[in-house]
Amino acid sequence: NTVKYLVTGGAGFIGATVATMLMEAGHEVVVIDDCSRNSQRFVPAGAKLVRKRVHEVADVLDSSFDGVLHFAGLIAAGESVEFPERFWDNNAVGTLVLLETMRKSGVRKLVFSSSAGVYGNPESVPITEDAATNPVNAYSYTKLSCDMAIASEAVAHGLAAASLRYFNVAGAYRDKQGTWRGENHEPETHLIPIALEVAAGKRDKLAIFGDDYPTPDGTCVRDYIHVADLAQAHLLALDHVEAGEHRVYNLGSGTGYSNAQIAQAVARITGREIPVVYTDRRPGDPAELVASSQRAKSELGWKPTRDSLEQMVGDAWAYYQHTQA
Ligand code: UFG
Repeated sequence: NTVKYLVTGGAGFIGATVATMLMEAGHEVVVIDDCSRNSQRFVPAGAKLVRKRVHEVADVLDSSFDGVLHFAGLIAAGESVEFPERFWDNNAVGTLVLLETMRKSGVRKLVFSSSAGVYGNPESVPITEDAATNPVNAYSYTKLSCDMAIASEAVAHGLAAASLRYFNVAGAYRDKQGTWRGENHEPETHLIPIALEVAAGKRDKLAIFGDDYPTPDGTCVRDYIHVADLAQAHLLALDHVEAGEHRVYNLGSGTGYSNAQIAQAVARITGREIPVVYTDRRPGDPAELVASSQRAKSELGWKPTRDSLEQMVGDAWAYYQHTQA
């Protein structure tokens, strides 16, 4: 019997990559996505798309599903400062509706896209799952609220669940058919894709936000994880969750790179010049975010294999050039 999963947000960068890898593992995938932030052409071939909001998930989910992977949600932290109501509705209300629908239809397995943003400005790095949570914007508040609602559901009603707290997701995935999937944010706000646009000559220069942070070179430090390694953790989490338990896993590579180091790496790996200007800090940016993913390694048997900048930036560049071709 094939195993059947519902993937919410399967038109997005991470959701589409996980959906692809689930199908490559022989599973059946149905995607629910309203395609408000991503085109439906990013939904992988072979997955059935239901073009609706998560709030309408009752029209799709029934007892024939073995589990849900919940990616649908808004992600731009800056937008959440300006329009928090969008985040409370899409992310928090959407997740509550999903949990209720799963309970009613008897679907008892959930893997949720949470975020390192829930830790805010951490007291120390690397960040373990026991670190204090302290969201600094509405985006991160909604992610933490969802984690808590899922934990309550697991304890009260026997859901088997995991929240995966992603650090900075990078790279791109070339599937077994040879199709590349990568990031397509509109507008683009993430460091590596913007640096690639500079490499491609689509922008004049890379503005690095802040050079007076308490870090070795004064620019912010982040922990990048390859989207395919991240996707693999979702498949492992599906195999390890237990009824009545909510598990939390931080997912990063465990190495911090400064924004200036990323600019240099993009220049090196693309062989193009990346002119840099240093501008003011971007509000709400923590100085340094680096994960401890020890728990995912020991409990899930997770082994990141694409954690070099060469691979992450190289794959993102291959995807970028492919989409421009
Ligand atoms: N940055 C620049 N210039 C740019 C864009 C970004 O200097 O043009 C800097 C940012 O200020 C930050 C670093 O590059 O210091 C990384 O910024 P990103 O926007 O690429 O990523 P964030 O770390 O802000 O956020 C990402 C996800 C969030 C998630 C968070 C968790 O976008 O959804 O990681 O760590 F919550």
